[in-house]
Amino acid sequence: MSTFNPTMLQGKVALITGGATGIGKQIAITLGQHGANLFIASRKQEKLEAAQAELSALGLHCHFICCDVRNSDEVEAMIAALLKQYGQLDIVINNAAGNFPAPISNISYNGFKTIVDIDLLGSYNVTKAAFEACLKQQGGNIVNITAPFQNGGASFQAHVAAAKAGLDSLTRSCAVEFGRQGIRVNAVAPGATGDTEGMERFAEASPEYGVNCPLGFVGHKSDIANAVLFLVSDAAAYITGQIICVDGGSSVDLLKMGQI
Ligand code: COA
Repeated sequence: MSTFNPTMLQGKVALITGGATGIGKQIAITLGQHGANLFIASRKQEKLEAAQAELSALGLHCHFICCDVRNSDEVEAMIAALLKQYGQLDIVINNAAGNFPAPISNISYNGFKTIVDIDLLGSYNVTKAAFEACLKQQGGNIVNITAPFQNGGASFQAHVAAAKAGLDSLTRSCAVEFGRQGIRVNAVAPGATGDTEGMERFAEASPEYGVNCPLGFVGHKSDIANAVLFLVSDAAAYITGQIICVDGGSSVDLLKMGQI
């Protein structure tokens, strides 16, 4: 049973990019289970169809569209399709992201650009299109899915850290500019999160990844989704421009003495 009121998002419409799989799908499920109507987007039709079937089987109301967030024309078409379907948009979750662990020597020029294009520019495209098409008139909530490591050096993640540092900056700038229009903009930074593609890749690169955080266990996708749910709820009505790490405390454990 949820800690939150199951009708708290009744009448709201939520867009989740990258919503067909992993953390994005769990965010969709959690928002849907608290009353939101859902619109999920990703690049792959078959993954969207499978996710829609799964969400429908849970009794959730979900539509989808194929969209590459790097392409601003596709993003504008996505927002138009959502508004045609639901007539409103209240919650935008910028979750679509790319990642591969690699040292800088193995990241090509295009590899670095690809991650910045998806994580940073893609989030900007969706934010801008949603803002212009509806949020600026009616207000709403934006949550960007970022990362917990970009304030330090991040080996094997130079491309992702650079993109997410930009996304954090965008989060704060949008919060400042959009506040008077009734739009709150926040971010959630997942640490090691079990049962995700990202976790599989990192566990391959480093088997210890995630388990040595202060809380001593790897997080669940629902931990991330619950933080998102809180941020889009009225309980967070005075919170904007913030980045909440959901990482078992790893981002504050600089000396890692607790594990010695
Ligand atoms: N190591 C090094 N370079 C890599 C790589 C890896 N594991 N995976 C991709 N790249 C490089 C490619 O070689 C290419 O560069 P090049 O043109 O110089 O060869 C560039 O990145 C783009 O890759 P490509 O697969 O053509 O682009 P894409 O847009 O189809 O997909 C990703 C890029 C990163 C999104 C995709 O490969 C991917 O990993 N998707 C999984 C998403 C994911 O893990 N999400 C969880 C986020 S935590």
